[in-house]
Amino acid sequence: MKILVTGGTGKVGAQVVKELQHRKADIRMLVRKEGPMPEGVEVAIGDLLDPVSVQKALHGVDKLYLLNAVVPDELTQGLIAYDLARNLKLKHIVYHSVFRVDHFKDVPHFAAKLAIENALREFDVPFTIVRPNYFSQNDATLKDALTKAGIYPMPLGPVGISAVDIRDIAEAAAIALTSDGHFGKTYNLNGPDVLSGPKMASIWSRLLGKEIRYSGDDMDVFEEQMRKRAPSWSAFDIRMMFQGYLDRGFVAEAGDIETLTQLLGHPPRRYEDFAAETAVVWQERAVAV
Ligand SMILES: NC(=O)c1ccc[n+]([C@@H]2O[C@H](COP(=O)([O-])OP(=O)(O)OC[C@H]3O[C@@H](n4cnc5c(N)ncnc54)[C@H](OP(=O)(O)O)[C@@H]3O)[C@@H](O)[C@H]2O)c1
Repeated sequence: MKILVTGGTGKVGAQVVKELQHRKADIRMLVRKEGPMPEGVEVAIGDLLDPVSVQKALHGVDKLYLLNAVVPDELTQGLIAYDLARNLKLKHIVYHSVFRVDHFKDVPHFAAKLAIENALREFDVPFTIVRPNYFSQNDATLKDALTKAGIYPMPLGPVGISAVDIRDIAEAAAIALTSDGHFGKTYNLNGPDVLSGPKMASIWSRLLGKEIRYSGDDMDVFEEQMRKRAPSWSAFDIRMMFQGYLDRGFVAEAGDIETLTQLLGHPPRRYEDFAAETAVVWQERAVAV
């Protein structure tokens, strides 16, 4: 039973490969460039925008883990892989989507995922969809904002989100790929705590031993800041996503945590534990410099 993994050099995909290795799965990764790869994993060089390379990568595999990066042509990349997998009559596709995708039709990277989910549901390849909340690990990039500027800068608002740890996303995907009973299922992947902007600031204040201020929900300011470190189309897309969090909510739905706990065989990891691990790493690095 061979599984093709896309996005395997990225944050979630690399964890999915680890979890599949842990379960002794036969893995092939679709990667854009040669480079050091996990031991025992077969590699197919290709690009999700190049159907010829994707077809070659899919040849001889039974299952596909499909993760697309947030790019302007995400829908095209996703459908190329899906259509080819369908032509080749793969036995199962696990698709990495996003939480509440059907409530965020105005957010470009959500709309792409909703269209790909619709294709999965329309045709006859057995599929499982995983829909993760905001990744806890996104906040590993906030070191300077937190430790130097003393602000928590993500506009999560007064209600907040249920951030999920990418190790739980990877475990859920690997379980769906390697065990029975997941065809046609859609799993919402959420962490156990509701995390508002002020709550995040209080968690980091405690961990860093100094006052961290929540920077607030001014989306114009947020988008302008985002444009300094991302292309403007991406800053706009992310702004729309956070606006959607504020307007429509991004908190786990009834039964989500119980379903995920049952799927994983343990409760989902807490944001506060990820944040504590991260604060220790930052402190150790500061001592080593
Ligand atoms: N961040 C969040 O809070 C969140 C929450 C829910 C869902 N999501 C979804 O999660 C996904 C991102 O996951 P991630 O953070 O693990 O991604 P990531 O770290 O940005 O990695 C993206 C992966 O996609 C590969 N890739 C990009 N363009 C490609 C192409 N044209 N052909 C083949 N491979 C390509 C990259 O390969 P290279 O190494 O060659 O660049 C890399 O392996 C997105 O779909 C996002 O919407 C994110």
